[in-house]
Amino acid sequence: MKFVLALGLVTIFAVSLCNAQCLNTYNLLNSNGCLKDGKEYKFDETFMIPGCKKCTCTKTSLTCCATAAQPSVYNKTECIAFLDDIQCQYRVVKKSDPCVECNVTAWVL
Ligand SMILES: *[C@@H]1O[C@H](CO)[C@@H](O)[C@H](O)[C@H]1NC(C)=O
Ligand SMILES: *[C@@H]1O[C@H](CO)[C@@H](O)[C@H](O)[C@H]1NC(C)=O
Repeated sequence: MKFVLALGLVTIFAVSLCNAQCLNTYNLLNSNGCLKDGKEYKFDETFMIPGCKKCTCTKTSLTCCATAAQPSVYNKTECIAFLDDIQCQYRVVKKSDPCVECNVTAWVL
């Protein structure tokens, strides 16, 4: 069960990457608004969800987009990227020494 859930999350993440980091969902709507993670949001409401994603509820879909630019070109053998959930920024550091920042030559949003 846990495994299936993890796989689902990975798939969602991959989809959002291909789609300019936005994800549209159409099945989370009812006549009053959008449902997301057990909460209800009104139409035209914009809200943040964990993972630094900004969601907008409209009458036709719920769209959630990443607000943090992702590092795309850096030394992936030597470095690792992670999302700083508080600042909504990716940080790229050395695997061998997380205190050392790595150079990133390209970012995508
Ligand atoms: C990444 O860093 C390692 C260790 O410094 C180096 O051996 C490797 O050539 C680098 N790779 C790239 C693509 O720059
Ligand atoms: C990162 O970039 C700086 C400035 O361009 C350079 O001096 C430094 O050597 C680079 N570091 C690595 C690990 O490539």
